[in-house]
Amino acid sequence: MTGTGSTLGAPAERREGHQKVTGSARYAAEHPLPGRAHAWPVPATIARGRVTAVDTAAALDLPGVLTVLTHEDAPRIADPDDPTLAVLQDPRVPHRGWCVALVVARSPEEARAAAGAVRVEYAVEEHDVALRADHPDVYEPETANGGNPARREHGDPEGAFASAPVRVDAAYRVPPLHNHPMEPHTSTAHWQGDQERLVVHTSSQGTTTVRATLAALFGMPEDRITVTAGHVGGGFGSKGTPRPDVVLAVMAARRTGRPVTVALPRRHLPASVGHRAPTLHRIRLGAGTDGRLTGLTHDVVTHSSRIKEFVEQAAVPARVMYAVPHSRTLHRLVRLDVPTPSWMRAPGEAPGMYALESAMDELAGELGMDPIQLRLVNEPDREPDSGKPFSSRHLTECLRDGARRFGWTGRDPRPRSHAEGPLLVGTGVAAATYPVLVAPSTAEARALPDGTFVVRINATDIGTGARTVLTQVAADALGTPLDRVRTEVGDSDLPPAPLAGGSSGTASWGWSVHEACTRLAGALAARTGPLPDEGITVHADTTGQADADSPYARHAFGAHFAETSVDRVTGEVRVRRLLSVYAAGRILNARTARSQFIGGMTMGLGMALTESSTMDTAFGDFTESDLAAYHVPVHADVPRIEAHWIDEEDAHLNPMGSKGIGEIGIVGTAAAIGNAVHHATGIRFRDLPLTPDKVLAALAD
Ligand code: MOS
Repeated sequence: MTGTGSTLGAPAERREGHQKVTGSARYAAEHPLPGRAHAWPVPATIARGRVTAVDTAAALDLPGVLTVLTHEDAPRIADPDDPTLAVLQDPRVPHRGWCVALVVARSPEEARAAAGAVRVEYAVEEHDVALRADHPDVYEPETANGGNPARREHGDPEGAFASAPVRVDAAYRVPPLHNHPMEPHTSTAHWQGDQERLVVHTSSQGTTTVRATLAALFGMPEDRITVTAGHVGGGFGSKGTPRPDVVLAVMAARRTGRPVTVALPRRHLPASVGHRAPTLHRIRLGAGTDGRLTGLTHDVVTHSSRIKEFVEQAAVPARVMYAVPHSRTLHRLVRLDVPTPSWMRAPGEAPGMYALESAMDELAGELGMDPIQLRLVNEPDREPDSGKPFSSRHLTECLRDGARRFGWTGRDPRPRSHAEGPLLVGTGVAAATYPVLVAPSTAEARALPDGTFVVRINATDIGTGARTVLTQVAADALGTPLDRVRTEVGDSDLPPAPLAGGSSGTASWGWSVHEACTRLAGALAARTGPLPDEGITVHADTTGQADADSPYARHAFGAHFAETSVDRVTGEVRVRRLLSVYAAGRILNARTARSQFIGGMTMGLGMALTESSTMDTAFGDFTESDLAAYHVPVHADVPRIEAHWIDEEDAHLNPMGSKGIGEIGIVGTAAAIGNAVHHATGIRFRDLPLTPDKVLAALAD
């Protein structure tokens, strides 16, 4: 510790906090370039078919309208790797909400008004948007998201289940969920010169990827494109890949010769920027009377769109969590006329651990065993699926420490054993896990003659505190106070870096920043005399280091504890307390880390109680299209939340010793809350969210 407040672990305040609270931080729509125009997409009003005619005459007559792009005349782009970006290229409508025209006008209001005046005719085909486990088109894909094999099997799971003395066989359902970041997806595009340079400001989790995508789509070298994302109002995965807004903005700017902003209205997000796919789970657990698991099957059925195979990898955490000799974890998929699902905070782990950790609670009930004890007796000494040793695994410590802090000991395990007037009160526990991911990155560190330093890296700070933590990593390696280091992020002209996703940002970027700064410190120590005016600069590239396969299974773990009350009269579930303990390697910034954990837990509370999107089978679209209908938890929903962590030393991670912390907070939280509701009421709900209508109906039975 240097005592400067800059060392790793210190609760350093956000570097950009002042800019954000004073409104001077610029977001993607806040680039008022001269002559800037605004565009508004026209979404398809059918779920399947094709556009037969677009009548733009009435729209073009309205004030302020500059042009309307349709599939007939929009600039052509190369076939994208991601089919969701192939907008306005052909008349096909793969799902409701697909962009079928784009109005460009002087103001957003004029663009919106004219979008309403565009007349689109369709050849309508019959659609199918209903996910069922017995859908005739269900198939088994090769892989699920993240490159995970769709199926893994060990031993004889059917036989083990059939012969187990204690069994749980249960089906769970997690509905479609939407990311709904505070800042909707937005891009401002600006062609310079004779359309030879392209500058784009976009709300994205990684602009190195956006630049590469635009270069491929518009057929130009990357060095003629700059993409910035200086400040981003959240993403939760939905901004992990480029979205139609950026392609549309570039097209509209090319057509009009003006800078153009496409700021997607909130109502367009559900159909156009991804969702967490609904998952239907069947879990079977077989155990001995001592609680040791003998067989486990976790079968998941989920959906994707017609245009892209995305498989929510919800059975993957069952490959990591518990010692069991006979297991099957399987994902199957049905392609429907639905919008394309994508990443949402802890894809796979969040819904998968809801199901698995609910089933473990059910098994504890069958056994008459404490649910913490059940988890302790099933601790594996190696990763069950791969057989690899864990680089570190402190789930046991998280459970024990959490139990102590929460006051678990002495709990009356009997369901419905505690009432306060009309309120039934209960407590629940669940485990959490999230993999340690990392990708190669480059970075640059410069020492200036005035004793200050500049670190440059195209990391993206999507509200997590990334630029602050990277500054800490740099200051620590340089042995200098935090305020001597300036960190530049969020611009594709900076040294290339991977996206803010998979909870891997700090590990990936931090590794290259650490490398550059360590070498710079060495270079400074080896020289005498003043620095040249331009300073000295060191580049680092962790290719071959940060992507190396590890002989270790690397995951973060955690334990959640919840206390809930259930109102017998109204069916309302309130979370009274939420407390979690994490083992996530070394915590690099106590303040921003706590914020990440608490944010994830709050999102898990939403998943448990309030958040859900409904696929309307008649219209073929999600019915919740704004924040009035899609209930993200508000302050009144969220109790005192405590996030704690244990000091975890792990030498097999990265130079900082950190594991990712952005996603684990949402993993298992809904199970802890559901388990508490079961303890309160004696009723097992297996279909999220636990809204008053469902709870009241079950209480009345
Ligand atoms: Mo996160 S869902 O990997 O951006």
